[in-house]
Amino acid sequence: MKKKIIILASGNGSNFEAIVNKLRNKYSIKLISENKEAYVLQRAINLYVDYEIINYKNFENRDLYNKKLFEKLKKEKPDLIVLAGYMKILPDYIVDFFSKRIINIHPSLLPAFKGLNAIKKAYDYGVKYTGVTIHYVNNELDGGEIIAQDIVKIETEDTLHSLEEKIHKIEHKLYPKVIDKILRRM
Ligand code: GRF
Repeated sequence: MKKKIIILASGNGSNFEAIVNKLRNKYSIKLISENKEAYVLQRAINLYVDYEIINYKNFENRDLYNKKLFEKLKKEKPDLIVLAGYMKILPDYIVDFFSKRIINIHPSLLPAFKGLNAIKKAYDYGVKYTGVTIHYVNNELDGGEIIAQDIVKIETEDTLHSLEEKIHKIEHKLYPKVIDKILRRM
């Protein structure tokens, strides 16, 4: 039986699409989104990938949403949970239950520029090199053990937009590669 990847995504979904295109023949892939307006859902439809919406806005509070997500994840029994632009913070009990089986991608060279808008933060800071980090998810925001990094040089002629494009290009190459490597070792 194919190993199973659950992708959690809330937004655009370009990483989701890159992962699907590179790995769909080898692994079973399912998308879960908390945002019913997210473009990633359209991508899942276009690519014929199984998806489910757990609409965050339908829940009275964050705890109830997280409980539902946890139930779902336990039922799905994924080998790996891949965060790809997932805009909510996972509670400790989910992180602990799936310890070393949840990974995230962050568009900077961690531990620099944690949190939101990392590409802009690096650009505004004026660093000459930034990049992409893939890490295990632990209980600290963007703080888990680093699995892989790749560097992007910021040239003087780069704009924020061109830098974003460079970073995403690297993400789309690196994330599927790292996911495959982790799953092959399991
Ligand atoms: C990526 O830049 C990723 O590093 C960050 O969120 C962004 C998601 O982009 N965590 P997309 O939705 O995959 O296009």
